[in-house]
Amino acid sequence: MTSPSVLFLGGTGIISSACTVRALEQGFEVFVLNRGTSTTRPMPDGAQSLIGDVSDADSLRNGIGDREFDVVADFRAFTPTDVQTRLDVLEGRTGQYVFISSASAYQTPPGRLPVRESTPLRNPFWQYSRDKIACEDLLVAAYRERGLPMTIVRPSHTYDKTLLPFDGGWTVVDRMRRGLEVVVPGDGTSLWTLTHHADFAHAFVGLLGHPMALGDSFHITSDEWLPWNEIYTTVAAAAGVAEPKLVHVPSDAIAAADPDWGAGMLGDKSHSMIFDNTKVKRLVPDYVARIPFVQGAREILAYYDADPARQQVDAAMNATMDDLVARYRVA
Ligand SMILES: NC(=O)c1ccc[n+]([C@@H]2O[C@H](COP(=O)([O-])OP(=O)(O)OC[C@H]3O[C@@H](n4cnc5c(N)ncnc54)[C@H](OP(=O)(O)O)[C@@H]3O)[C@@H](O)[C@H]2O)c1
Repeated sequence: MTSPSVLFLGGTGIISSACTVRALEQGFEVFVLNRGTSTTRPMPDGAQSLIGDVSDADSLRNGIGDREFDVVADFRAFTPTDVQTRLDVLEGRTGQYVFISSASAYQTPPGRLPVRESTPLRNPFWQYSRDKIACEDLLVAAYRERGLPMTIVRPSHTYDKTLLPFDGGWTVVDRMRRGLEVVVPGDGTSLWTLTHHADFAHAFVGLLGHPMALGDSFHITSDEWLPWNEIYTTVAAAAGVAEPKLVHVPSDAIAAADPDWGAGMLGDKSHSMIFDNTKVKRLVPDYVARIPFVQGAREILAYYDADPARQQVDAAMNATMDDLVARYRVA
């Protein structure tokens, strides 16, 4: 029997890198198409590299050649135009097109928790999420009209060793280590879900080629819910800082000081987000998230501490934090 084939568009990113590894472990013939420029996460042995730029239909076509795939998993589609380009090139040449959407597409702020796949999609705050919803709408219509074999997967905040969980990244850790106050949005008690990419990949690869996944949508997250205060103190502990100085700042004030940071807060992270993963577990019964954030945080700090070149401090973010801390510090 021949192995099922999967093509990853992207494939060496934060989430997709773990999916390529897991797909190889599960016996897929794995193809990865990207521009061949990223070096942070090397291609795993056994994956076949195809070179192309997905934003250019001809480049994508040339990269794929005359191959057909059992599954195409698209990590690089952000607008309906992106999705349409993929369908123009790939429809009829794959048994399943898996679109990577985002859990930020769910009703924001959430009217009820936990979030299930039946939760409405609506995010007035974040264009990125509205574009993902428009992509989903296109795919759902194509499924209804002509039976396009598609599956929608919505990751929530998913990390690997390179991704610190808060805005500001290393700048926050650097401040903690220097004994400076750091900005925690809101009052730090809203709940957030952080998923390790290896856990995500376990459930994700279980959906590839699964007939019950066609025409349907799933999120995949861990079942660990953490208040933001705990996320900051967990990172601080991994960084060797026993008592980080947390200053709580309303998300509105963050948005006024830094619109980009604010958009991500008001459109996503300032609201409690917890998920019911029953639906994906029905199709992938052995899925259970195994990596708690206390372990993930240690992996992240070990990665940054291994090479000072990774420890980039953002002067503008530092200045914004100094200003917010001065205004919101409790005397
Ligand atoms: N991480 C999260 O928390 C989260 C949450 C919700 C949704 N998502 C979604 O997850 C997806 C991102 O997944 P990921 O983090 O694993 O990253 P990814 O999409 O796999 O992105 C990085 C990869 O894409 C390749 N790439 C970038 N631009 C390209 C282009 N124009 N043509 C071909 N390849 C290109 C890069 O390689 P080269 O540079 O070598 O081309 C690299 O391999 C996005 O759709 C995002 O909306 C992520």
